[in-house]
Formats: sequence, structure tokens, C-alpha cells
Amino acid sequence: MKSPFDVLGIDPDADDAAVVRAYRRRVKETHPDHGGSADEFQAVLTAYERVLSGDDGEAGDTDSEGVEERPPREETRVEYLNYEVLDDYDWDLDDDALFQKASDEGLDPADYGRILVHPHEFLLEAAENRGFAWPYACRGGACANCAVAVMEGELSMPVNHILPPEMLDRGIRLSCNGVPATDEMKVIYNVKHRPGLEELRLPPRPFEQAHSEG
Ligand code: FES
Repeated sequence: MKSPFDVLGIDPDADDAAVVRAYRRRVKETHPDHGGSADEFQAVLTAYERVLSGDDGEAGDTDSEGVEERPPREETRVEYLNYEVLDDYDWDLDDDALFQKASDEGLDPADYGRILVHPHEFLLEAAENRGFAWPYACRGGACANCAVAVMEGELSMPVNHILPPEMLDRGIRLSCNGVPATDEMKVIYNVKHRPGLEELRLPPRPFEQAHSEG
């Protein structure tokens, strides 16, 4: 069993800045889109969580790759809206009737609609599995490209070292590693251009467009 420090490639006495640097590097190295494997990538996420939480001893209920089982979750109904639509229609993010307006407008399914997020699916992953291309870059909690604004419900993030507390207070979450924690959710995706998020981004993936592939 590798220690979380081995997985991240750092010494046990590495300081916080070194841990974050190593995490960002390993996320990119192991990402499936960059030649890594899903297991390796998940092992890096898990190792980072363990180092942050101080749980850096021998693994308990992890498998040989240090991958912990995700807890079972119920299906979640997610109503989504593309942030770019707010600009197009001059709608306000704080408008209580925002989702009703979107529903009434007959928008393209890529911009507004509902998806069911199954247990063991991250929000971004669920959108992609339904044929949508929401923005992302690292997929590892290390940038803000995949940020969403949670308007109702809650999205639980096992890993976040990029969003400051004031962003979290405003309901900003990461869709790449966020898992729904409520039965119903309303989210605005593609909020990466909002003030404060732009400077937290990484260079985008090639297909940085929020359009349905189907
Ligand atoms: S894509 Fe980088 S944090 Fe989600």
C-alpha cells in the first residue's frame, strides 16, 4: 500500500504549498485525458484528501490502489441553466423567478433543462453522460473552469483548494468532483467568467463550449 505522500510524490514533512503544488502536478499527470487512468486519478484525489485531513497512516478500507469507495447516494434531480443565457436575456442571477423564466422561454436543451444524477456520478460527469459538454480543465479541484452556482440544494465537494470561503458562501461549487447531497438541485453552470473566478482558471480543454453533442 502506497502512503498518500508516495501517491503525491512528496515527503511526509512537505509544507502546505508543496502539497498543493504536488497535487496539481499529479492531477494533470494521472488524468485519463492526459494518458493516466481513472484509478490512478482517483488515488491522487484520495491521497490529497487524506493528507489534508491528517489521515496519512496506513489505509483502512481502501483497495490496493488506495481508492476509497464512494458512499451510496440517491438519485438527484438537477435543473440546470447556462450562465451565458443570463447575459443574452439580461436576467439577474439573484432573480427568484430565474428558473421559471428559463422554463417558459423554451430554451435549447443544452442551455436549460433537467437531468437525473445517479449514485456514483459527479455532476459534470452526469452532464457529460447525458450528452452535454460543460466546461472543465483539470477535473481535480485545482481550477475554477467547472464552477457552478448552486441556487437550490447542495453539492458536496470532497476536494477543493481553489475556491475561497466567500465563493463557497455564495454557493459556488466545483462540478467535476461535486456530488449532489440533496434530492433536488438547481444549478447555473458555466459561471467561470464571473468576477473572482476568472483568475482561478486553468487553460481550458479544447471543447470549451456548452453545447449538446446529441
Ligand atoms: S475542472 Fe478544474 S476544478 Fe473542476
